[in-house]
Amino acid sequence: MTDTTPIATVLVAGSGTMGRGIAKSFAEGGFEVSILSRDPARLTDLPAGVTALSELPAAAPDLIIETIIERMEDKRALFARLSAAYGDAPIVGSNTSGLPLPDLAAAYGHPQRFVGIHYLQPADVFPMVELICLPETSETVLQRTAVAIRRTAKEPLIQRKAVPGFLVNRLQHAILHEAYHLVETGVCDVEAVDNVAKYLLGPRMCVTGLIQQKDIGGLETHALAQRAIVPHLHHGAEPNPILQTLYAEGKTGLSAGQGFYDWSGQDPKDVRRDATAKLNQLLAYLKSLVGGPVG
Ligand SMILES: NC(=O)c1ccc[n+]([C@@H]2O[C@H](COP(=O)([O-])OP(=O)(O)OC[C@H]3O[C@@H](n4cnc5c(N)ncnc54)[C@H](O)[C@@H]3O)[C@@H](O)[C@H]2O)c1
Repeated sequence: MTDTTPIATVLVAGSGTMGRGIAKSFAEGGFEVSILSRDPARLTDLPAGVTALSELPAAAPDLIIETIIERMEDKRALFARLSAAYGDAPIVGSNTSGLPLPDLAAAYGHPQRFVGIHYLQPADVFPMVELICLPETSETVLQRTAVAIRRTAKEPLIQRKAVPGFLVNRLQHAILHEAYHLVETGVCDVEAVDNVAKYLLGPRMCVTGLIQQKDIGGLETHALAQRAIVPHLHHGAEPNPILQTLYAEGKTGLSAGQGFYDWSGQDPKDVRRDATAKLNQLLAYLKSLVGGPVG
């Protein structure tokens, strides 16, 4: 018989940056939440109402969200473990950023009960979550998961095809690919790109989105501009060398003290806390100005 009972128990597998945020949002939504960690004693600052576990619980949770390191073999090992422990009882979702969902679902062995649940960092702050189906995912599983996500005060952004990068990262990487190319070829510096994002494109997108804004501005100008500009965009399929070089040199951003910007002398915790506080303020104001996301 098809199980249509509401999801009540949630296990978050992985206690890093994303796992904690995801667990917090489900706990605030009134779910019974546990978090699976290889070292639960280290988790001294867990969100209220979240229990840390070192082993899988005896009873199958209704929903398990995997959010461990982005490494195929580690994720596949975890899914095989979940399958051995619970069979097809739980709905299993992966927060992978880019690994192929069909390969992850195959390791669980029950693709009809598998979805992608992709959060944006900070996971407890943003009002939308990507919810991605495989061709095999059952409609009931999709809808039960969507209802649970809505109870965490987030709107699921349902995608019925699992394309690499899903929707959010595809858009983000398309613009970043062009931005890095403009920096690499000396058109502008990184500060100019960030100022365009912060003061021009970002605010406009907040009010009228990406595509609706083009309707408002008029499609004639937009269609003619596309003809003139698109042929000159960077269409290279290689990851940008500036970024790859920074990574190879260990200049991995805020935590390393150096990335595109110089972060030396700054406490990463303070910088992240400040950014999250500002994001919270902005999202609250946006909600009052343009409303929340529509399902
Ligand atoms: N950070 C982001 O902005 C972001 C956004 C969306 C999705 N994601 C995805 O979320 C997942 C987790 O990312 P994160 O940023 O929280 O990483 P993180 O490094 O903060 O946390 C990863 C956690 O996985 C644990 N871990 C590592 N190997 C493991 C194993 N073999 N078995 C069990 N646990 C293991 C680590 O101890 C750590 O607690 C990744 O798949 C990532 O791609 C990250």
